Amino acid sequence: MTDTGSNAVLAAREHHIARGVASAHPIIIDRAAGSYVWDAEGNKYLDFVGGIGVLNVGHNHPAVVDAIKKQIDSFTHICFQVGAYQPYVELARRLNTLVGGGEPYKSVFLTTGAEAVENAIKIARSHTGRSGVIAFRGGFHGRTLLGISLTGFSQPYKQNFGPFAPDIHHAIYPNEYHGVSTEQALASLQAIFDTQILPERVAAIILEPVLGDGGFVAAPPVFMQALRALTTRHGIVLICDEIQTGFGRTGKMFGFQHSDIQPDLITVAKSLAGGIPLSGVVGKAAIMDAPSPGGLGGTYGGNPLGCAAGLAVLSIFENEDLLARSQAIGRQLLSGFETFKARYDGIGDVRTLGAMAAVEFVSDRSSRTPDSDTAQKVIEQARAQGLLLIKCGIHRNIVRFLCPLNTSEIDVQEALGMFERALAASL
Ligand SMILES: Cc1ncc(COP(=O)(O)O)c(C=O)c1O
Repeated sequence: MTDTGSNAVLAAREHHIARGVASAHPIIIDRAAGSYVWDAEGNKYLDFVGGIGVLNVGHNHPAVVDAIKKQIDSFTHICFQVGAYQPYVELARRLNTLVGGGEPYKSVFLTTGAEAVENAIKIARSHTGRSGVIAFRGGFHGRTLLGISLTGFSQPYKQNFGPFAPDIHHAIYPNEYHGVSTEQALASLQAIFDTQILPERVAAIILEPVLGDGGFVAAPPVFMQALRALTTRHGIVLICDEIQTGFGRTGKMFGFQHSDIQPDLITVAKSLAGGIPLSGVVGKAAIMDAPSPGGLGGTYGGNPLGCAAGLAVLSIFENEDLLARSQAIGRQLLSGFETFKARYDGIGDVRTLGAMAAVEFVSDRSSRTPDSDTAQKVIEQARAQGLLLIKCGIHRNIVRFLCPLNTSEIDVQEALGMFERALAASL
């Protein structure tokens, strides 16, 4: 019989799995529920990674499990290009209202986040008849060739995978802690227009309202508003990549809602379907309808299990008031982080937007030099305490917190206690 103990599976993993697929933690997960996971030896962990922002409603939420089970009993796959089904259409209807408010919006469903990004760019190019795309340094948009072309960091995502898709240009993302103002970020866009591509050749500007993998850095509302004005003036499609910021992570349903702007398109994935692979593009109807029939889709896009799970996720948001919980978790984490920052010089910055929370480690507070070794130590010590976390930032010196939004106050307190012990052991 195959040995299913952690050490045996870890050894087999080493042997059979390509090393390009890394795991942040050397553990083998056996089961999960709510905000917890258990490894093969029965050790229990508070999961503040949540499948990298996929489990905003927690592991195995009974309403999600129920919806999936019911859907399995009806059918698991049709392919929307063959025949339509109600959960796909209903999920689109609900997202169109959530994103578009009163305006006519339409949706298309795909499978992964990167695929949603790819389709958003296709739709923008089809609508404008232009090819250029502007993304941002420090942005992350997935691991497909177009995804890494848009992504703004070299290691590990771009190195040795080129050449990249052409006509993609990278502007500078505002970052207050590192001294990049909204004006400087906007000037970098102007520099692209001056030196690389005229605005009337640009199909789309794509950005995350809060950098995810790039370090949990929120774009100031004035920057988002300036981008909205600029894109409107030049007929450029404004795409908000809400794959990590979506579904309540930032305390609002979507990250763009902090800036009081209306994007043309948004990409959604991750927490959309509570763990079932499902992604989508939601956007203004006139833009979404640009590609001709057959130009969008994919065999598995909008899989019925994912759509049924997605509908359950949206109901959970209403029933459990998860946006309020997200804000409360953010406040609770920030107050703990601030105490830790006062105590440890190795912490350069702490920040939250809703429950999108991060602690940035530096080797020197005045120069703000990134300290990835300490971030790694803290992650390992936190795991030893029973708390799972992962890093982010182009220098991998930032620890991010992505707990389920229905994590209880007691569990958040417990996580803060574990984090503090991890800091004490590492700094
Ligand atoms: C903002 C953002 N865009 C795109 C992606 C890619 O999603 P996927 O890994 O599902 O392809 C991610 C994944 O982390 C993301 O955070």
